[in-house]
Amino acid sequence: MIVFINDRLVDEKEAFIGISDLSVQRGFGIFDFFRTCNHVPLFLDDYLDRFYNSATQLRLEPPHSRADLRKIIFEMIDRNKIATSGFKLILTGGYSVDGFEPGKPNLIITQQPIEISPEERFEKGIKIILHEYLRDLASVKSINYMMAIYLRDKLVSKQADDVLYYKDDEVFEFPRSNVFVVTKHGAVVTPAENVLHGITRKKVLEIAGKKFMAEARMVTTEDLKDAAEVFLTSTTKRLLPVLQIDDVIVGDGKPGAITRALYNSFRKLEDEYCQRPFSPLS
Ligand SMILES: Cc1ncc(COP(=O)(O)O)c(C=O)c1O
Repeated sequence: MIVFINDRLVDEKEAFIGISDLSVQRGFGIFDFFRTCNHVPLFLDDYLDRFYNSATQLRLEPPHSRADLRKIIFEMIDRNKIATSGFKLILTGGYSVDGFEPGKPNLIITQQPIEISPEERFEKGIKIILHEYLRDLASVKSINYMMAIYLRDKLVSKQADDVLYYKDDEVFEFPRSNVFVVTKHGAVVTPAENVLHGITRKKVLEIAGKKFMAEARMVTTEDLKDAAEVFLTSTTKRLLPVLQIDDVIVGDGKPGAITRALYNSFRKLEDEYCQRPFSPLS
């Protein structure tokens, strides 16, 4: 696989960064992740907006302009030839003189084949557990997934598929996905604050706003308990119905009608996008 590191495309076996990088020393850095469908980078501009936004928030300066990044991504798509893939753009804290002060960031771009959640997964839905935790600097797509990886054993022992973070009475997000609640009155809501602004979340909110009452606002654990439907959104999972939270079944234990309608509209939007030719320049 061809990867990009700082200023050149190289074989992944030749891509290294040094041990004084703050990502290694302190877990300091940001990244973004998008996927390609039919060799087209899905919603690329939205992901690039978020990448530069995370970098700005951590005061890291990406070594390349947006136009250059588009050209690099285009070239990798052309050379790696993987129709359905995941792209990772990682921007590290850079080489630090004292192991604490940020240096000039290193940029790594990788492309890997990925599997997207199949249709059956939607029908099966997922079981989740709750965990009290709030991510640091939640609107930054940081490379730090310490709690999520730490909680893997708990998920296995509870036979759950994912964990939803909340604090006090406020619900936030999953380690790698956003959460939506459909109220008994048919309103589609997702937490507004202290979450990563997922690109799938953004698209689903736009779609939902055309057909239903939809808003980003505070979501409480009470809202979650009272919900008619609950689902998650993410780049690789699209929309997945949550059918059980801890020991409580959500709604009638089957994917809900509104979740299904949003899933179908999202698939349509995605399919249309994936038919467009991708130009590095536009
Ligand atoms: C903390 C967090 N929340 C939400 C998401 C979902 O965002 P997206 O829809 O852009 O994949 C992610 C993605 O990895 C994430 O890391």
